[in-house]
Amino acid sequence: MDASVLISTAALRHNVRLVRDRIAPAELMAVVKDDAYGHGLDSVLAVLLDEGVTRFGALDLPGALRVRHQAPDSMVFAWVFDRGDDLSEALQQQIDIGVTDVPVLERVAAAAAVAGTPPARIHLKLDTGLHRAGVLAGDWERFVNLAAELQRSGRVVVSGLWTHLAEESHDDDSRSIAEYREGLAIAEAHGIRAATRHIAASAAAYAREDARFDVVRVGAFLYGIAPGGGVGPEDLGLRPVMTLRAPIRHIRRAGERTLAAVGIGGASGILADAAGAVSVALAGSRYPVVAVEPTLLLIDVSGADATVGDTVTLFGDGSAGEPTLQNWADGMGTIGEEVVTRLSSLIPRTRID
Ligand SMILES: Cc1ncc(COP(=O)(O)O)c(C=O)c1O
Repeated sequence: MDASVLISTAALRHNVRLVRDRIAPAELMAVVKDDAYGHGLDSVLAVLLDEGVTRFGALDLPGALRVRHQAPDSMVFAWVFDRGDDLSEALQQQIDIGVTDVPVLERVAAAAAVAGTPPARIHLKLDTGLHRAGVLAGDWERFVNLAAELQRSGRVVVSGLWTHLAEESHDDDSRSIAEYREGLAIAEAHGIRAATRHIAASAAAYAREDARFDVVRVGAFLYGIAPGGGVGPEDLGLRPVMTLRAPIRHIRRAGERTLAAVGIGGASGILADAAGAVSVALAGSRYPVVAVEPTLLLIDVSGADATVGDTVTLFGDGSAGEPTLQNWADGMGTIGEEVVTRLSSLIPRTRID
């Protein structure tokens, strides 16, 4: 056996239902960027579609086109574009485009001007404080005006108005929400009405009713990944979806210690920071990770009854005594998303339950 990622379909369904109950009547846009946060896009999409999810956030165009292939009738949203991206392909495939500045708006309009291309469905982004992307409040009116002109020409349809809350403090988010409301009023004054409003990711969508508007873009919570900083998935009623396992390849005595080499390492995406910071489980007991090598993890199994071929659980839902992803993230001083999105796509993802 090699390393394997097990995906709990039951946990994923549970989280989807929990989040949807919580955010109703707002609708869920399931964020499936980075191969569904490392969980494997195809299986995750199959479950989400079966649960009746109809909106997907894919980050970039290659991801959006993959989603479109599997979800021909859904709304698929992408918001990061490279210079080389073929926007006419995006329009042909009816991808909803997050427009973050004038150059992207102009590229979209140019692609939509080609005969036979359907109008571009665009979502205009206001930067309300995160400063990652989006149009600043001072430039918003000019931007909205340009989009309204393009809408009148029939090249684009403004189907969304959005921002991304920083989720760093309640007060900052409140300021962002107020700024966003002003942005909505300006858009309305320029004739942009009936556009879908969306501003919140997992944490704000969960915590704040005033951040939900029409749609929320939720990624981490669907996979049972909590924000950390003392808030674990169980505090929110979420269930971890991923279990990561690998076999013991060999066992060596090293002075006083017995070290087992487990068949997964840095080349498969295990962060070097795991050494000395996290533990793994073997037969329900925990053993510390002492080193991360390119293809192996060394764990200290002194005193354990360990045999070559035994399966080690790196993290799971904790129900069999194993560490959770949250334990790993906390141990390494990072967030769960950082751990799972780095895992190599070469590790097979297998659905369980
Ligand atoms: C624009 C946008 N919306 C939503 C999300 C989902 O965030 P979370 O995983 O915290 O739910 C992301 C994640 O990168 C994002 O970039």
